[in-house]
Amino acid sequence: MATHHNARHHLITIFIVFFISMASCGYGVGVNWGTMATHQLPPNKVVKMLQENGFDKLKLFDADEWLMAALLGTDIEVMLAIPNNMLEEISKNPKAADSWVYENVTNYLYPGGLNIKYIAVGNEPFLKEYNGTYLMYTLPALKNIQTSLNNAGHGSNIKATVPFNADVYYSPDTNQVPSAGDFRPEVKDLTIEIIHFLYTNNAPFTVNIYPFLSLYGNDHFPFDFAFFDGSNKPLLDGNWVYTNVFDANLDTLLWSLEKAGYPDMHVVIGEVGWPTDGDINANTLNAKRFNNGLLKHALNGNGTPKRKGIIDIYLFSLIDENAKSIDPGNFERHWGIFEFDGKPKYELDLRGFQSDNKGLVAVEGVKYLGKQWCILDPDVTDLHYLPGSIDYACSLSDCTALGFGSSCNGLSLQGNASYAFNMYYQVNNQRDWDCDFSGLAILTDDDPSEKGCQFPIMISHGSCLLSCKGVLAIALYIIFVVFLL
Ligand SMILES: *[C@@H]1O[C@H](CO)[C@@H](O)[C@H](O)[C@H]1NC(C)=O
Ligand SMILES: *[C@@H]1O[C@H](CO)[C@@H](O)[C@H](O)[C@H]1NC(C)=O
Ligand SMILES: *[C@@H]1O[C@H](CO)[C@@H](O)[C@H](O)[C@H]1NC(C)=O
Repeated sequence: MATHHNARHHLITIFIVFFISMASCGYGVGVNWGTMATHQLPPNKVVKMLQENGFDKLKLFDADEWLMAALLGTDIEVMLAIPNNMLEEISKNPKAADSWVYENVTNYLYPGGLNIKYIAVGNEPFLKEYNGTYLMYTLPALKNIQTSLNNAGHGSNIKATVPFNADVYYSPDTNQVPSAGDFRPEVKDLTIEIIHFLYTNNAPFTVNIYPFLSLYGNDHFPFDFAFFDGSNKPLLDGNWVYTNVFDANLDTLLWSLEKAGYPDMHVVIGEVGWPTDGDINANTLNAKRFNNGLLKHALNGNGTPKRKGIIDIYLFSLIDENAKSIDPGNFERHWGIFEFDGKPKYELDLRGFQSDNKGLVAVEGVKYLGKQWCILDPDVTDLHYLPGSIDYACSLSDCTALGFGSSCNGLSLQGNASYAFNMYYQVNNQRDWDCDFSGLAILTDDDPSEKGCQFPIMISHGSCLLSCKGVLAIALYIIFVVFLL
């Protein structure tokens, strides 16, 4: 009886293990966790939220010790990236690759450690805007990293890949269909060499695809074609019907791969998402529509016209990042599914059933600075100096919500000033002397937010990008004074 019982137990265990490994086989939903923010949420609280919401996979842009420590002991699958600025050294020096792997991979691989699945070598290193800076380093760095992984005994479990921007392939203007796709001539040979290496090593081709950017700056782009539920203007490619630009883009890659001799190359979508502010098309409604449509589409197994099956995706991104460069556009700081303080922006169904009322849980236990805002003194009548003060405050904080089509675009000049002053004050941790602006500014505990335009209060968690140097200087000063006494 006991043995019988045990056998059944074993069978159940085997089934459970089987299903868990199915579930962790890369078919859950991944998300990119970037940290270009002045104020970081505590990583352990973010990790708890990830688990509660059922994110299975994570992509990190750097082997950030702080984040990796918070992930220890979870089974969240990690794609760990090596930043572009390390590619040169790693490409030239196999020992640098060895020590990178030792310090940032091997160190974390123990029972109760980290579940590292991929190493992303560089980030969009062939991007046109980089003018070819990383072209020569990428393949040698990729090879060195994989060799180091192999030598350390991780090679069968951990694969190095390269996240490419979708600008490495294209369809000619004269024939804008996926089947006409091919790699961009300037990078074609090099890209195919990389593909060959990835393919023979059983590693995926990773690509970032952004339907939002198809719409951005292209007034003639059919709006609905950016989403997954509109089909009033499908694109025909022979007998194939495309109802969304995501599929058309992905199939352009699949055709390019096929023409290069790799028709069954495994493809991972390293970044895909929709921003919620900073552009006329960047808002919560569109982001919710896009991401829910995307998840349903990616997970239902229908695939694209060219390839059936589940599409392996990492959403971009987890949390808003108020210190990202806005060279590409104001929307860059608003890609998060969650606000800077860990609150979900909209309902998102991570399992893709589109029951449409699946709320995400927020990061719990977030601490905020005091309930006070810095605004333009309403008694100020001479507005002569306002534009200069606004520019100053904005250049050192984040005013991307003020621009055309953004959530706070409707404000008056006075409103703009209040918004800018407050952002500057909050980003600087509400220091008294940062709410002055030559006497133009005052403090208030009356929330100046208007409908649709939030005047945020910053979170109070230790952050370093801007404030730590100051804190360090003060600490050193105190030590110095104490020493003198
Ligand atoms: C490990 O990764 C971190 C973060 O990118 C980097 O600063 C460090 O140099 C890496 N370690 C080695 C030995 O390369
Ligand atoms: C690429 O070239 C353009 C035009 O010469 C220049 O403005 C830009 O700064 C360069 N970018 C990089 C990353 O070198
Ligand atoms: C407020 O600032 C935004 C962004 O700089 C600008 O486009 C807008 O014209 C400003 N509004 C007023 C009334 O000055």
